Amino acid sequence: MISHTAYAVEPWCLRETEFNLDVLAQSESVFSLSNGHVGWRGNLDEGEPHALPGSYLNGVHEQHPLPYAEAGYGFPESGQTVINVTNGKLIRLLVDDEPFDLRYGRLRSHERVLDLRRGLLHRVCEWTSPVGRTVRVRSTRLVSFTQRAIAAVAYEVEPVDARTNVVVQSEIVANEQLPAFVGDPRAGAALKSCLRPEEHFAIDMRLCLVHSTARSSQRVAAAADHVVQGPESVRTTSESTDDVGRVTVTAVLDPGESLRIEKFVSYGWSGIRSLPAVRDQVEAALAGARSTGWQGLVDQQREYLDGFWRHADIEVDGDAEIQQAVRFAIFHVLQAGNRAEQRAIPAKGLTGSGYDGHSFWDTETFVLPLLTYTSPNCVAEALHWRQDTLPTARARARQLGLRGAAFPWRTINGAECSGYWPAGTAAFHINADIAAAVVRYVSATGDTDFEREAGVELLVETARLWHSLGHHDSGGRFHIDGVTGPDEYSALANDNTYTNLMARANLQAAVDAAERHPAQAAALGVDEEETADWRDAAKAMAVPYNRALGVHEQSAGYTALGVWDFAGTPTEQYPLMLHFPYFDLYRKQVVKQADLVLSMFLCGDAFEDDQKARNFAYYEPLTVRDSSLSACVQCVMAAEVGHLRLAYDYLGEAALIDLADLQKNTRDGLHIASLAGTWIGLVAGFGGMRDHGDVLHFAPRLPEKLSRLAFSVLFRQRCLRVDVTGSQVTYALLEGEPLQVSHCGEVITLAKEGPQTRPVEKPTACPSPPNRRAGDLRHAAELRGADEGESAAFEVLVDAVGQVSAGRADAQPVAQVPFAGAGSPRQTVRALRSPFPPDRKSER
Ligand code: BGC
Repeated sequence: MISHTAYAVEPWCLRETEFNLDVLAQSESVFSLSNGHVGWRGNLDEGEPHALPGSYLNGVHEQHPLPYAEAGYGFPESGQTVINVTNGKLIRLLVDDEPFDLRYGRLRSHERVLDLRRGLLHRVCEWTSPVGRTVRVRSTRLVSFTQRAIAAVAYEVEPVDARTNVVVQSEIVANEQLPAFVGDPRAGAALKSCLRPEEHFAIDMRLCLVHSTARSSQRVAAAADHVVQGPESVRTTSESTDDVGRVTVTAVLDPGESLRIEKFVSYGWSGIRSLPAVRDQVEAALAGARSTGWQGLVDQQREYLDGFWRHADIEVDGDAEIQQAVRFAIFHVLQAGNRAEQRAIPAKGLTGSGYDGHSFWDTETFVLPLLTYTSPNCVAEALHWRQDTLPTARARARQLGLRGAAFPWRTINGAECSGYWPAGTAAFHINADIAAAVVRYVSATGDTDFEREAGVELLVETARLWHSLGHHDSGGRFHIDGVTGPDEYSALANDNTYTNLMARANLQAAVDAAERHPAQAAALGVDEEETADWRDAAKAMAVPYNRALGVHEQSAGYTALGVWDFAGTPTEQYPLMLHFPYFDLYRKQVVKQADLVLSMFLCGDAFEDDQKARNFAYYEPLTVRDSSLSACVQCVMAAEVGHLRLAYDYLGEAALIDLADLQKNTRDGLHIASLAGTWIGLVAGFGGMRDHGDVLHFAPRLPEKLSRLAFSVLFRQRCLRVDVTGSQVTYALLEGEPLQVSHCGEVITLAKEGPQTRPVEKPTACPSPPNRRAGDLRHAAELRGADEGESAAFEVLVDAVGQVSAGRADAQPVAQVPFAGAGSPRQTVRALRSPFPPDRKSER
């Protein structure tokens, strides 16, 4: 949608200059404000028109039965769905009897700006009512980073050319009517009228509504207070009913006069606290916000974000679109995790009800890396949430006949909500993903208190799971059978390489943590025999490798499966899971999202350089990227093995997932993991940052299109800045004691006084493997036409992949599957990146 003419490319904001109903739903998602606790979608102040009204409180959900046509042991029986809580954003306006509604009258000008540096959403528009009265409406909205319970709006209306009667109704509304979800089953199911009224009042300009949910027994309170400024004619009244609290302000305004309303809204919820306690909590938060005042909240927001961006900003020269997208991405990831405070970080953050508001491995594998190096406190909080859910995860492991803890594949409150077990229960890798996040956080921060209080327990319980899930064969090798790796187009596979390598790291990390914290380990019942078992399992872990092909198997026997009929799969049949039966996807070589390729990134030490290159060449053509979690990983590995152009295009795909609505589902909420993947692509891909071991490694290399990349990372109480151009890189220590880092294997000591510069080597150019997802190629061809030079390189590569495949006797060689279109790998991804003709507004 950003490619729509109504959106411009600017470095620090997202600006919409036309109102367009066609992209209203997407705009509501991209203009969402949140602090990880409270989330407001970017709905218009007046509530309508809307695509999906959305106000969310992290953790507030309703339960519903999960029906199964055929019952089975261990199936989760209760689902959880995020609910739309009380809407505090609503400010309706009547202009001389006519409701201010953009579908009527004439919209003379319209602009909305999401200011990424200040954390504010501005709107200004001029509207003429059907009877000819013109008003200017301005609003600024924030969800506070510093006062967790608080959101606020400053709203102003002024007549443009004649004396006008205005009536403003500032409301808080529960149980709003929601549109029914149709189509894509991944979209969250909206639960209607699920809030039961418990108490309401309106006193002067203060409003309060308290509700509770029927099944999940959560109590939700919302309160609002107002400051009104205007001419003498201003009158105010207030009232409340079960589901509505309303302050009404009337005024007669002459041109030059304006009516301004500052609205403060506070939210609170609890599963255990009494009605008076929750009500008083929101009243107290509101009093705090009133005393800070509107300008105070704006100043606090600015101060908070100044501090954040100082450590988190990424500068990209050479691609203005990526510059904007990466800041947009970082901002939304911060919004998702910032004040989540021991709650989950959902896959959509608090920007929509997609995926029912559930959290997945997206958090630990994609979101937490960004936060670890830019805002580490959020990571400790997120992992403490996992620790809090350990009792449920232990019970789940028992239910499955396993030891330790089995964390849920998708959840809001810690209980498993995935009704489809091959891609849910069997996706045990989430346990190792959580363990890896613990290791990464502790290594990056040196937070030994966290390790002692939470890390050891998480590592021990996940290691126990792996040990009970796997088995040693007669030769002593340790196998983990019947699991689902990241690629959900393969299920119940034996020895999934990603899972095994991550489990290996998990087992070893548990041994190390138990040695460092013997008292904590002993309190958890860990003895020497148990750590010896973990060590043995880790050492003997099976890692399937096909010698004939010279590539790792995604799982045992994978390369012997038939290859998906890419040529016979037209564009409209992607994503494949919505058009083909899973049984067929499961028995073919077709990869939904990076799996083996992800293991080469996260467990890079387990692969030789030449193996990485061959593996990438083998799996890249098979990967259809039906999940948004794929592009950033392929970007990182494409960059590492030397396909910089391809990496650059993958970066675009990750970065523009929502700004260009690449998967056509941004309306349901943002793809927070893919947005975080933009950071991963730049820092780990083109910055070449790896954090295996004690020293941070960098191996920077830029694609031709980027002339400079500069990013900062927080690491063990230091802040370092890496500034890369095409030919050199400068490492500077901005804060903290001297630190050693590695530049392409050379250890450099950094001190505050002396930045260090090193040359950057250009990788030898080699043709990139083609991605064979048909639609992309066709779309690319349509948009750009075939480039002969690139097509020639493409053919060479097809041969190269063919030679690799030819080593396999029992499977169809990859290269014999005809390609659906002519195009370069660059075109393949550029096509996704630019789904509209290049008619963008020029950069401001
Ligand atoms: C992906 C999962 C991911 C989930 C939520 C699915 O399409 O296959 O890996 O966790 O989306 O983003």
